Amino acid sequence: MGDKQVACNTSSEWKPESKYDFDPITGDDEIVTVDLGGTPIQCLKKGDALQHIVKMARIIPDYRKHIPSIRNMEMDDDDVIICAFAKSGTHWLWEITSMLRNGKPDYHGKEKTSAMFEFVPAEVLRASPKPRIYNTHFTPQGLPKQVFDRNCKILFLQRNPKDVLVSLLPFLKGHKFLDSAIKWDEFICKYMELEVESSLLNWFYYTRQWFEFLNEGHDNIYCLAYEDLKDDPVMEITKLAKFLDVGENSDLFKDIAIKCSFHNLKQAATSKVETFTINNKEAAKKITNFTYRKGEVGDWKNYFTIGVNEKFDALYAKKMKGIDFKYRYSL
Ligand code: A3P
Repeated sequence: MGDKQVACNTSSEWKPESKYDFDPITGDDEIVTVDLGGTPIQCLKKGDALQHIVKMARIIPDYRKHIPSIRNMEMDDDDVIICAFAKSGTHWLWEITSMLRNGKPDYHGKEKTSAMFEFVPAEVLRASPKPRIYNTHFTPQGLPKQVFDRNCKILFLQRNPKDVLVSLLPFLKGHKFLDSAIKWDEFICKYMELEVESSLLNWFYYTRQWFEFLNEGHDNIYCLAYEDLKDDPVMEITKLAKFLDVGENSDLFKDIAIKCSFHNLKQAATSKVETFTINNKEAAKKITNFTYRKGEVGDWKNYFTIGVNEKFDALYAKKMKGIDFKYRYSL
């Protein structure tokens, strides 16, 4: 961005908790403007990870230092990493995986953000008790390099992009990434023009990155789909248990499916507000409400008009050319 100075007011806006330093923006930093409706947003870009200069500065660690430290973080053979685009059911899979690895249908004591590469300093992640189940919305280029030298298992979770986008708008508004006044029609039109290579925002980019990576033929990666989990949770949990090598236990798998149903998990999540990485109970309660919004397959039909749907399908065909994967859009 040359010598241009970017206003970086980190002191006057929404602050659930400003606990990290955020160094001044310099001419060496890459700044991108994201326009998804309302006021365009200026973000710091580190690799393909974006940090909203105002709303996410100081709430999460400064990505200029944080991402290199995550890349260089030590990993253990028995660490598991859940990788998913935002709104694909990451919370759900994280609880299921935690129950499977603990051999008990008890909810994880903490909120999922406490184990996220995006939010938590590497030394804190490393100090967390085993079994460690990290989670992230980063693409493979944001993962710790040691993931690939060790025996770590990766769970790659996908969800159909139409339901993801319906879920993404309240998520972005709720986190104040976007203005609360932005309407779905405006958002989806702008979204279909989004070009920035962002792991957090750009589903097409994120998914292509992952498929290209999978095509390289890495070991220890297990792929799941939100819709399959919704359709037959016990079967999907049974298959996952096999991959995780936790032993056959059909009673436990049934219990986990029940404990992790949408309504049960939402209820359990409300008691975890204390354990969010942000130390602000009101904000944490709101986040829980839009994180567990509806939990359905096919809600997109209530939002996509025929015209938008046709445009989206054409865009999908263009952007995902050569990717041979069939998403389920209804059950
Ligand atoms: P909706 O907004 O469509 O309801 P993530 O955890 O990656 O942020 O994904 C959140 C999405 O997963 C939300 O989708 C949420 O409701 C859904 N979800 C969470 N737990 C679920 C469950 N137990 N069953 C079905 N969907 C669930």
